[in-house]
Amino acid sequence: MTAAAAEHAREALGWEHLGVPDLRGRTVVVTGGSDGIGREVALHLARWGARLVLPVRDRVKGERVRARLLRESAAPGSDAVTLVDLDLADLTSVRRAAEEVAGLLGEERADLVNVAGAVSRRRRESVDGHELLLAVNALGPMLLVESLLPLVHQRVVLVTSHAHTSGRVDLEDPHLRRTRWTLPRAYSRAKLVAMQWGLDLGGRMPPGTQVQLVHPGWVLTNLQNATGDPRLDRLVTAASRPFAMSAPQGAAAVLFALTQPLPPGSYIGPDGWQHLRGRPTLIARSERAADRDAAARTVAWMWREVGLDGDGPRNRGPAPV
Ligand SMILES: NC(=O)c1ccc[n+]([C@@H]2O[C@H](COP(=O)([O-])OP(=O)(O)OC[C@H]3O[C@@H](n4cnc5c(N)ncnc54)[C@H](OP(=O)(O)O)[C@@H]3O)[C@@H](O)[C@H]2O)c1
Repeated sequence: MTAAAAEHAREALGWEHLGVPDLRGRTVVVTGGSDGIGREVALHLARWGARLVLPVRDRVKGERVRARLLRESAAPGSDAVTLVDLDLADLTSVRRAAEEVAGLLGEERADLVNVAGAVSRRRRESVDGHELLLAVNALGPMLLVESLLPLVHQRVVLVTSHAHTSGRVDLEDPHLRRTRWTLPRAYSRAKLVAMQWGLDLGGRMPPGTQVQLVHPGWVLTNLQNATGDPRLDRLVTAASRPFAMSAPQGAAAVLFALTQPLPPGSYIGPDGWQHLRGRPTLIARSERAADRDAAARTVAWMWREVGLDGDGPRNRGPAPV
């Protein structure tokens, strides 16, 4: 760890009260590393010495980020950052990506950080006919992470959102085919599904490993550009700037969840008003996101939807703290 990297971590993350981790010799798989919060997460991990595997949707963007990460990485060699193709809206691509990551890791173990997520201004479907926000924010990540579970070193970190607190999961119409589609309804539902999956997964993790769930806060990234009108997007961004956090600040909760000592299955987010901004801490999830029976039903449905197993996952463990 260079003094400059430690200083940067303190300034950008507000981490002066915490130790800066040394990740030399560790490998982390980070989705969403091509932009926004995920790119900042990858940058810090590289500076802290981790080798990175970045499954990305857009190779050109990915290569640009990889070049920067290699310049700043404390891990030696050009294989300190490896790109893998991944489209979370295409389950065939997710399966291929999981196979490629497993091949890259070989006998090695890695931590998994799913940051990738998306919004849309109208109802769209994935290649597999799933409602797009559900596909990208929950079903695709589930297939990727569950496929790589035997290769987890210590932690799986899943970026969800506090928007899950207004979500409802209706397994009669999960893809919003009959229910009217709105962005808040589809996004909050997808993130609640991800929270329920994370809860369930926490009880099934291999010994010595754990899941952490993260709400990064209100962060100015491409995610805000959902109006479809670039001028309106710029206005929304300008109006939000004094209140929202920057992408480096948004990365803080994710890095905290990955590297700090925490009870398994915690939900981490900013400590400020409505968890919109602030320093990372343990926060409370919604009652629906803490309901293990509802989570089991949702996860059994998800497994069928992604073709993992008709019976759904077994070996449920104790409730999270
Ligand atoms: N920003 C916030 O205020 C906020 C608040 C709560 C939660 N979150 C969550 O934080 C996470 C990161 O969001 P962000 O704000 O950093 O947004 P962002 O800047 O739009 O970044 C999203 C990342 O996800 C990737 N991605 C999108 N669709 C994908 C797909 N189909 N397959 C593979 N990768 C895909 C994007 O890749 P490309 O580069 O190819 O687009 C990009 O790397 C998301 O899960 C989001 O829901 C954000």
